[in-house]
Amino acid sequence: MLKRLRYPLLLIALLTLLAATWAGLLRIGWRLPASSGLAAAHGPLMVSGFLGTLIGLERAVALGALGRRWVYIAPILSGLGALTSLLGLPAGPWLLTAGSIALIAVFGEIIRRQPASFTYTMGFGTVLWAAGNVLWLAGWPIFQVVWWWGGYLVLTIAGERLEMARLTHFPRWAMRAFFILVGVYVVGLLVLSFIPRGDLGTRVVGLALLLIALWLLRFDIARKTVRRTGLTRFIALNLLIGYVWLAVSGLLVLIYGQQAAGPIYDAQLHTLFLGFVFGMIFGHAPVIFPAVLGRQIEYGPHFYGHVGLLHVSLCIRILADLLGLVILRQWSGMLNGIALLLFLAVTVFSLRKGSAESLPANARSAKSN
Ligand code: HEM
Repeated sequence: MLKRLRYPLLLIALLTLLAATWAGLLRIGWRLPASSGLAAAHGPLMVSGFLGTLIGLERAVALGALGRRWVYIAPILSGLGALTSLLGLPAGPWLLTAGSIALIAVFGEIIRRQPASFTYTMGFGTVLWAAGNVLWLAGWPIFQVVWWWGGYLVLTIAGERLEMARLTHFPRWAMRAFFILVGVYVVGLLVLSFIPRGDLGTRVVGLALLLIALWLLRFDIARKTVRRTGLTRFIALNLLIGYVWLAVSGLLVLIYGQQAAGPIYDAQLHTLFLGFVFGMIFGHAPVIFPAVLGRQIEYGPHFYGHVGLLHVSLCIRILADLLGLVILRQWSGMLNGIALLLFLAVTVFSLRKGSAESLPANARSAKSN
């Protein structure tokens, strides 16, 4: 029965993505019809509403299939949190936070079943998300909690990649180096949050992001699989471009330090959230959607369309941010939104009817990219 919940939950996640994108366009200066609190809810809706529900759902589908049905509580809470936030109800932030805490419990179960470096990494990422949400509930401004949320997404993705990296010859010192970098990131978070004199903590966070990106560029198996063809190459390219964006984000945070709003803040955040995180989502959609929905997806070269649009328009947006070109920034933000829409349209129209077990061979093997 609970299995059927994946459809409404995915629908809520996608609706939240659309509403949050609309809110992003408001934030970047477009005058569009909207409810009064929507623009301010943009960040939480994107990170906790959309991504929180999607990631929680992916875990729930995997663990639910093994008989752990309670794991659906996490995406249900996040999904309800997204809906109530969209309606402007005060319960929204509480439900989103509850969803993140429930996901820690889900990772407790995942780690119990498979204690490994990658499950610890992803589980710890969830702890950062929940901690950021608790600080946000306590009234901290978003610019002070956003790097907690960023840590969640970086560690979730890095954990997935560590799982794949086990397939290659992987030096032990590299693993240790990775955990040291995670440690540096956490020290940065603690300093920026609890010793808020100057912006040393934010710069340490930036340095850690830069080094984690270089680590991923050096050790991810994508460096090899990018030489293959078809979907495998598509995923690898998305990963490598995403790592470059992560490095740029780290550099911008390291150079400019803490920002509370404005174009540099925009560039620091969206190189991470759009370039890195959405780069990963675009790359893995042909694998994630079949896994969650049990439907096949027909991959084709046209998938490069929305990927190209996202990265080119993001390059323009970052340049506009750095050069203070307001109108160019506004239009490139619009093109970012169109890239997200195009991605949804291409993905939905590429879904084919098919049983859960009959995932396409290319999707199954691409999971190891
Ligand atoms: C079409 C795509 C997007 C547009 C047009 C957009 C636009 C914006 C703008 C203009 C800001 C405010 C920056 C400033 O202070 O000047 C902002 C903040 C933010 N954005 Fe986005 N964004 C987009 C996508 C995303 C995505 C995909 C994520 C996360 C996955 C995200 C997360 C955030 C966060 C966390 C903030 C900080 C919010 C705050 O401080 O209140 N954005 N966005």
